[in-house]
Order: sequence, then C-alpha cells, then structure tokens
Amino acid sequence: MKGIILAGGSGTRLFPITIAVSKQLLPVYDKPMIYYPLSVLMLAGIREILFITTPHDQEAFKKLLGNGSHVGCKFEFAVQEQPNGLAEAFIIGEEFIGKEKVALVLGDNIFYGNGFGSLLRSKVDVNGAAIFAYPVKDPERYGVVEFDSEYKAISIEEKPEKPKSKFAVPGLYFYDNSVVEYAKNVKPSDRGELEISTINQMYLDEGNLEVGVMTRGMAWFDTGTVESLDDATEFIRVIQNRQSAMIGCIEEVAYIHKFIGFDKIEDAIFKYGKSNYGEYLRSLI
Ligand code: G1P
Repeated sequence: MKGIILAGGSGTRLFPITIAVSKQLLPVYDKPMIYYPLSVLMLAGIREILFITTPHDQEAFKKLLGNGSHVGCKFEFAVQEQPNGLAEAFIIGEEFIGKEKVALVLGDNIFYGNGFGSLLRSKVDVNGAAIFAYPVKDPERYGVVEFDSEYKAISIEEKPEKPKSKFAVPGLYFYDNSVVEYAKNVKPSDRGELEISTINQMYLDEGNLEVGVMTRGMAWFDTGTVESLDDATEFIRVIQNRQSAMIGCIEEVAYIHKFIGFDKIEDAIFKYGKSNYGEYLRSLI
C-alpha cells in the first residue's frame, strides 16, 4: 500500500501564524506537526509516501523530510496549486499510486491510542474503503457519518448544518485502487472543493465502505484552529512527560518496524543534537 499525506491549504484560521509558515510545519510540542501523521502511515507499515504541499511550501518540507532514506522510506513530493479539496490528492497522486491501494492522512490530524498500530495494519489490504468515525461535540466542523441501529453506515455528509449524528470522520482513509477513478468523478461542492466525503459516499453507495468506530480509548485531534492546536500540544506534552515515551518519533517507529538499523538511529542522534528529540533517541539506546 502507498501513502499520501496532504499538507496543502492556506491555514487561514491560524493567521497570522500561518502567513509565512505552512500549518503542517508548526510545532506540536516538540516536533513539527507533520511528524505525527507521517508516523501513523509508518506504523501501518507504509514506506512509499507522497507529500502534497502548496507550491511555495514544498522546499521547506523537502528540507525537513529529505528523500526518506533516514527512516527507511521513500518520500516523494507533489504540489496542489489551489486548495481544491482533499479528493484532488488522488488525481495529483495518480501516477504515484499506480495500481496499488492507498492510504490518505491529513497533515494536520493527530492520533494516539492503545492498539492503534494493529488497527492500522488491519486496514492496509482493504477491499473497497475503510474509514473511521469518532464522537465529537462539534460534528458540523467535519465529515459526518450517520449509522443505523446496528452501526451500519447509511450516509456521509460534509460539514452539515444539522448533523445526523455526533460521529465525525477523522482524516485517515484507506482505499483500494478504484479511488483514483472515483476522485475523477467528484463534482465540486458548494464551497467549491472536491470533497473526500463524496468519495466515501460513492463507496457507501456501492456497498464497499467499512466504517470503524474509534472508541474513547483513542485520542484524535485536528489542529485547524488555535484552540485545537493548543489542545493537541498540551495533550502531547502531558502524555509524553508522564510516560517518558515519545509520540510521533519517526526514527523510533522506523527502528521498531525494522525499516532501519541501529546506524541510522546514531545518525539521527547526531542530527537532532541536544534537543529533547535528540535526547530521547539517545535514551532509547
Ligand atoms: C476535512 C474533511 C472532513 C474531515 C476533516 C478531518 O475537513 O473534509 O470530512 O472530517 O478534514 O480533519 P477540512 O480540513 O477541509 O475542514
């Protein structure tokens, strides 16, 4: 399975913070935001990853992430010229995806929870599509999934004024190869975007959409607003300091999953120097 991280958008809700800096490069506690969704794809065992950014931010992402060899992965970069919506990722990424299945994670979504790695790995061979549902207080901000009494999904709506449930769809999606063709048939919504919710509704109409409910043991943050960015930072700080384990440490994930050997951890310790992050890697050995 291939992976796409969508890190476009203008981050207007975070202005002035994001006028000169991409949202997905902002710090979430002690590391850039993009490390968290990247570690999610790596936890799923995905090693070929396409980063889609705005044209003007691409250089900064390349500087941060390189070609991926330091974490045993292969990174590629593409641009989304305009914020035309999430579904465009599969059109931009068509050549990269080729004949494979593909996972998409949004560059501003952060996940943490017990058993999350095995949940991810259970989705990489998906037939059809696999998405998640997460109960939130403000579902109107998200894609919303409606269930019947047996928790079978019956509709997906993007940012409905009157949500039919409290279940938001987090920015983590697993698709078989037909997603590329589906994406080409998505018509722009009222807000002028190619919505991922339309793709999910297409899979649902074909009877090929699996929706897993994330239970209360899982933490999911999007970081689109100042409040939610601050919440995510606080959460990561508290959990990390209490457990003395890092969330979103891509070198650690790569080492545990045998993408890299010990030599690359030593290189990383040198690269990150005396920062918290470098100290953490040093403590692992
Ligand atoms: C996007 C998707 C929405 C999803 C959300 C998750 O919203 O369109 O369906 O629930 O990401 O973060 P946006 O970031 O465009 O507001």
